[in-house]
Amino acid sequence: MIDFSDDINIGEENEKEIVSASVIKSDEGEASLRPLTLDEYIGQDKVKENLSVFIKSAKMRGEPLDHVLLHGPPGLGKTTLASIIASEMGVTIRKTSGPAIEKPKDLAALLTNLNENDVLFIDEIHRMNRYVEEILYPAMEDKHIDIIIGQGPTATSICLELKNFTLVGATTRSGQLSSPLRDRFGIDLKLELYTPEELKQIVERSASILGVPIDSDGAYEIASRSRGTPRIANRMLKRVRDFAQVYGNGVITREIADIALTRLEIDACGLDAMDRRLLTSIIENYGGGPVGLETIASTINEESITIEDVCEPFLMQQGYLTRTPRGRCATKKAYDHLKIPYIGAMGT
Ligand code: ADE
Repeated sequence: MIDFSDDINIGEENEKEIVSASVIKSDEGEASLRPLTLDEYIGQDKVKENLSVFIKSAKMRGEPLDHVLLHGPPGLGKTTLASIIASEMGVTIRKTSGPAIEKPKDLAALLTNLNENDVLFIDEIHRMNRYVEEILYPAMEDKHIDIIIGQGPTATSICLELKNFTLVGATTRSGQLSSPLRDRFGIDLKLELYTPEELKQIVERSASILGVPIDSDGAYEIASRSRGTPRIANRMLKRVRDFAQVYGNGVITREIADIALTRLEIDACGLDAMDRRLLTSIIENYGGGPVGLETIASTINEESITIEDVCEPFLMQQGYLTRTPRGRCATKKAYDHLKIPYIGAMGT
């Protein structure tokens, strides 16, 4: 039940937290590289195939799409996919994030301002507080919210009907979602790190949008050193372009990409300075592990959340790091990569 007794104006203060779809289209930088349709979206084939069936069938029935949970590491295109879902369904998207919704009434304002079948996108949905989250349960299940107006003996409870809507939640940590919330998503899609071949296509597409000349080997070099993440690949592309203009003739070749990425401390396998510091510390300070996340985070002076969300998915996928119940361990591949003699670490 939402208590509005302190403030029944649910419309204004939240507006600034809503990012409308039109802002995204006109936004410079990363946003201009975002694909706008499922056909333009490269990679995540399983997700795309299933999603296109769900969208088509919802449209055939004239119904809104069921609520969608997107999860996976940062930079893989969860926000992009949410916008694509809205545009493929022909509806408007309203964007917000878990931490931006401070009070239940903020969420109530968002929900009551939606038009029929709109998409409400909540990024970092795992960071929503419990009181806010509880508003979502009846909203997602039965299209209503319960609110209290007034105080003391005059307080009245009213049930506010909502229009049909689709909630798209994005999270890097689906394990942190409560089961009542998780269970209310009819569609659960997990995004995986991209292959170098998929990233190469993304780099070539972005280069063509930005008008940057690039050859096939140059695109592959950037792709294979972008840790499976389009956001990183697109960022690298722009930085490599700078080197190509200053040191070359403007064309991105493999050689220029290698020079640029080496200068940016991205090694040939795509590990960056933080990845190497993490692995080196596990090996040199903790005998290769196991070492707890908080311990290693304070040793290398990084946030544990950054290590967990940003470094580890790639390092584990590539086989440099394992997570055991007793902590993190560097693998033989990590020793070999860092050219440290392998003596057989505990737990690997
Ligand atoms: N830009 C960022 N992510 C993309 C993707 N998955 N497909 C095409 N272009 C992208």
